[in-house]
Amino acid sequence: MSQDSGDFRQALGRFATGVCLVTVNDPELGPLATTVNSFSSVSLDPPLVLWSIQSSSDHLGVYTDCEHFGISVLTANQATLSGHYAERGGHNALPEHFVVGSAGEPKLIDSLAHFCCATHAVHPGGDHQIIVGKVLGFESMEADPLVFYSGGYRSLS
Ligand SMILES: Cc1cc2nc3c(=O)[nH]c(=O)nc-3n(C[C@H](O)[C@H](O)[C@H](O)COP(=O)(O)O)c2cc1C
Repeated sequence: MSQDSGDFRQALGRFATGVCLVTVNDPELGPLATTVNSFSSVSLDPPLVLWSIQSSSDHLGVYTDCEHFGISVLTANQATLSGHYAERGGHNALPEHFVVGSAGEPKLIDSLAHFCCATHAVHPGGDHQIIVGKVLGFESMEADPLVFYSGGYRSLS
């Protein structure tokens, strides 16, 4: 068994995930979006989801303190958006990519699914903070998901 941190990252990358944009409309910074793959379902009743943010993020406080946020799930042909909103300093949600969601959060146009959330809890998680959201509303459509596996983008087809 290894305890090497590089091996740990590699082993974690063996878990295939989808890719999402977490979005928020910050009163000072305006609409923001960040690429994440830590999204997960938590509870059906009440409807809860979570994601985790690295504590070194420039926008840590924005996401831990916001009342509402959005989760937009990316389709297979939205990989460029994933790269764009993962760039440090590149988190301004561009108007051509988003409409305004029901709680004022940016909602990605043509996303596979969108969840409008109220912040329910924030838990410490090592070098991340775990943000739990109560889902206030959602929508979804049929399309191929963007898959992240072993450090690269894949699609199911
Ligand atoms: C596929 C992918 C998944 C990511 N998942 C997360 C995540 O779950 N949590 C997180 O904090 N950052 C994640 N990131 C990194 C952020 O998108 C972003 O690069 C990072 O927050 C940059 O730091 P900043 O917030 O200071 O600009 C991911 C990046 C990529 C490309």
